[in-house]
Amino acid sequence: MTTVGFIGSGNIGITVARLAIDAGHQVVLSNSRGPEPLADTAAELGPRASAATSGEAAAAGDIVVVAVPVKSFPNLPAAPLAGKTVIDTCNYGAERDGHIPELDSKSLTSSELLLRYIPDAMLVKAFNNIFFKHLLSLARPAGAADRSFLPIAGDSARAKAAVTEFIESIGYSVADTGRLADSWRQATGTPVWGTPYGPYSNEKGQPVGEYAIRAALATAAR
Ligand SMILES: NC(=O)c1ccc[n+]([C@@H]2O[C@H](COP(=O)([O-])OP(=O)(O)OC[C@H]3O[C@@H](n4cnc5c(N)ncnc54)[C@H](OP(=O)(O)O)[C@@H]3O)[C@@H](O)[C@H]2O)c1
Repeated sequence: MTTVGFIGSGNIGITVARLAIDAGHQVVLSNSRGPEPLADTAAELGPRASAATSGEAAAAGDIVVVAVPVKSFPNLPAAPLAGKTVIDTCNYGAERDGHIPELDSKSLTSSELLLRYIPDAMLVKAFNNIFFKHLLSLARPAGAADRSFLPIAGDSARAKAAVTEFIESIGYSVADTGRLADSWRQATGTPVWGTPYGPYSNEKGQPVGEYAIRAALATAAR
C-alpha cells in the first residue's frame, strides 16, 4: 500500500486518485484553495481518502502526483517535495497557461520547466497523454489481453521503478521512453497524445498496446 499525495484534484488528479483507491492505496487530495472544497470528494472516495493543504499532501505522499495547469508551477510547495518521487501529468497550452517562451520554442519540455520549481524532486512524466475519461475506463488487471500502455519519462531509475509499480497496480503497463528531456515525444499535440486511445466523444476509449505506443512515439517530430 502506497500513500499518494495529489497537488491538483481536478479531472486527472481525481481520476488517478479513484484508480489508486480501487487498487488499495491511500490518497491525500489538495487544490489551490485549501481542503474544505475537497471534503465531499474525499468522503465520497471513502476512508482511504483525505483532503489537506498542498504542502501536507506533498509531505504525506510516498508518491506525489502534480496535476495542475502549467501556469501554477511557480506556486507549488518545493520544500516538502524535496527527495520525493513526483508524477508530472501536466500539459502546456498557451491559451490556458499564457505564453512561456521556452515552451513555445520547444527548447525545454514542460517537465524540465517544472523541475526548475521543484529542483530536488525525482520527477517522472506520466498520465499526460491520456484523456481522464479514457484513463478511468481503460484500466485493466495485470495479465488482461486488452491492458493498455502509458509512456513514462524521467531521469531517476529509482523514481521510474516506483512509478512503474504504482501504474501497474492501478491497471496499466508502462513504456519507458527515456529521460525528462525526451518527454517532448509525449507532449501536447504529439502522435501519442490522446489519439491512440480514441476520440474524446467515445468516453470508453480503446485499449492501446505497447507496439502502438512505441510506434506513435517514434513518429513524433519536435
Ligand atoms: N483533463 C485531462 O483529461 C488531462 C489529461 C492528462 C493531463 N492533463 C493535464 O493535467 C493537468 C491538470 O488537468 P485537469 O484537467 O485535471 O485540470 P483541472 O480539472 O482544471 O484541475 C486543476 C487542479 O489543479 C489545482 N491547482 C491549481 N493550482 C494549484 C496550486 N498552485 N496548488 C495546488 N493545486 C492547484 C486546482 O485547484 P483549484 O480548483 O483550487 O484551483 C484543481 O484541483 C493539466 O496540466 C492538464 O493539461 C489533463
